[in-house]
Amino acid sequence: MIDTVRTIAALRDRVAERRQAGARIGFVPTMGALHEGHLSLVAAALAQCDAVVVSIFVNPTQFGPGEDFEAYPRDESADLEKLEQAGAQLVYLPAVDEMYPENATTVVNVSGITEGLCGGARPTHFQGVTTVVTKLLMQVLPDAAFFGEKDYQQLQTIRRMVRDLDIPVEIIGVPTVREADGLALSSRNLYLSADERREALSLPATLQAVAAKLRQAQGEPAAAHLDWGRAQLLQGGFDSVDYLELRDAETLAVLEGWEGQPARLLAAARIGKTRLIDNIAIG
Ligand code: PAJ
Repeated sequence: MIDTVRTIAALRDRVAERRQAGARIGFVPTMGALHEGHLSLVAAALAQCDAVVVSIFVNPTQFGPGEDFEAYPRDESADLEKLEQAGAQLVYLPAVDEMYPENATTVVNVSGITEGLCGGARPTHFQGVTTVVTKLLMQVLPDAAFFGEKDYQQLQTIRRMVRDLDIPVEIIGVPTVREADGLALSSRNLYLSADERREALSLPATLQAVAAKLRQAQGEPAAAHLDWGRAQLLQGGFDSVDYLELRDAETLAVLEGWEGQPARLLAAARIGKTRLIDNIAIG
């Protein structure tokens, strides 16, 4: 069986043993319900590190009121089996009261880069993410931590936070893993009905189509192409579009048009009760 720990003290002991043996420690934080996207982070960590720690913690502070914290899929035994097969060495499964003692009042807040995009529709989300990721990094003290480009605003926010707070860890971004038909893997895909699953394909398809238009229209305003993309998503079966935006790939500053610089096209849209996000590189 794969090695599991549930307390900060046990985690620190196990990681310290490996570090004393000279291991470079890789860390993959997750909320469980693991799929090939998560496992690609584990594979990237194994390729660059001697020992890989994976955390599974459904973090209550990053869910807003009325969001799916209670309903979020949980399957610990299936997750442990997948991690063992993937070759991870240690799994950290803290309970909520291990992570958040009753009188905890400290938060980590990264301004600017967390406003707009997913921070627009989910105003407390990123503070929950940055607080728990800081705590996890302090608990594990890894050499490198791995995050998916699937959650691009999260990845760039964590890069910024680690730089601003001088946290001594290398943050490594890993490309999005997709189904054969292009849909980005997500734990929330489990919520989709068969019809919604088919309609959800218009998200990656629209991103590709808008990206092609923006590349062709280099130097011109992007607004009309973004409007076209929003209409495509609604026509494709999405009930509403939270955002479809062109942003600078590093700072996430709004771009009025693509001038050839590293840029990212990002979208979030709702289908039935499910909110899906995706993004692709331009340039
Ligand atoms: P979770 O949604 O479980 O995702 C864990 C990691 O897996 C994140 O870095 C995410 O970007 C990555 N991931 C998810 N789907 C992916 C895909 N299709 N391809 C590549 N990587 C993918 O993100 C979180 O959890 C939480 O916010 C967390 C960072 C754990 C803090 O609570």
